[in-house]
Amino acid sequence: MLCMTNDDILNEEEISSLLKTEKLGKSIVYIGKTTSTNVVAKEKSDMPCGTIFVSDIQTDGRGRRGKSWISESADGLWMSILLKPDIKTDEAACVTLVAGLAVCKALRKLTGADVLIKWPNDIVLDDKKLCGILCEMSCKEDMVRYVVCGIGINLNTEKFDDEIKNIACSVKSVTGIELKRSVVCAEVLNCFEPLYNKFISTGLGGIISEYKKYCVTVGKEVSVIKGDNKINAFATDVTEKGELVVRYDNREESLSSGEVSVRGIFGYI
Ligand code: BTN
Repeated sequence: MLCMTNDDILNEEEISSLLKTEKLGKSIVYIGKTTSTNVVAKEKSDMPCGTIFVSDIQTDGRGRRGKSWISESADGLWMSILLKPDIKTDEAACVTLVAGLAVCKALRKLTGADVLIKWPNDIVLDDKKLCGILCEMSCKEDMVRYVVCGIGINLNTEKFDDEIKNIACSVKSVTGIELKRSVVCAEVLNCFEPLYNKFISTGLGGIISEYKKYCVTVGKEVSVIKGDNKINAFATDVTEKGELVVRYDNREESLSSGEVSVRGIFGYI
C-alpha cells in the first residue's frame, strides 16, 4: 500500500489543472510504482518532447555517478522530463543547469525559503541537498536525439538514512512546509518552460546571470575531485557553456560538470 496523505494526489488531471505551459507536461505518464522514471522515459523516448513521467515510488532510483537515489516512498517528487532539443551533444550539459535553475525558482516561489544551487545542479537549502537532477542523453553523430531530465525532490521526508543524514534534507525537514507533489510538479514545469525556450533560442547566455544569482558555489573555496585526485581551489565564475571557473594558486581552469565533482571544503556545499 502506498503511504501518503489523502490530499497529496499525483495524477494526470491534478497536474494538468495547474499547468501554464504550452509543451511541457502536455503528455503525462503517471506510474504508481516503477524502477526508475528515467529508465521508463528512455524506453518511451518516441513520445513527444515535453512528455513527463512521474511516479509515487521508485524501487531503483538512479543518481549521478552510479549512485542510487532513495525514492521508495511517496514523500518526494520523482519525475523525468523527455526533451528533444535541436542542439549539439557538447551543449547538452547546459540542460542540467537549466533544470537546476527551474527547480530552484519553483521551490523559492512555493516556500519563500532561500533555496540555492550547488553547481551544476544540486538544489540546496540550509547547506544540505534537497534535490538531485540526473540528465541522460542519447545522440546521433554530434546531435542530441533526446535528453531525459530526471528530477528528485525530497518534500516530506522526515528521516534520512545514516549515510546521508548529514548532507540531505527535505522541504518539510527544514521549513516545516508540506507541499503537494502535483503543485511542485506543475510549478517546476511552469518555471522550466520559459527558461528552456530561452536556452534553445539564445544558449545559456540568456539565463546565466539569473543562474549565477542563485549559485552558491561561485565565490567559495571548493574541493575539486577528479577521479582519485582532490585539490582545493576558489570558484570564480560559471561560463556561458555551463563550466565552473576555478582558480588554483597560479592558474585558472574551466571545469565541465561531466568531468569533476565539487564539494565545499568545510561541508557539503
Ligand atoms: C543525483 O544523484 O543528485 C541525481 C538524482 C536524480 C533522482 C531522480 S528521481 C527521478 C529520476 N529517476 C531516477 O531514477 N533518478 C531521477
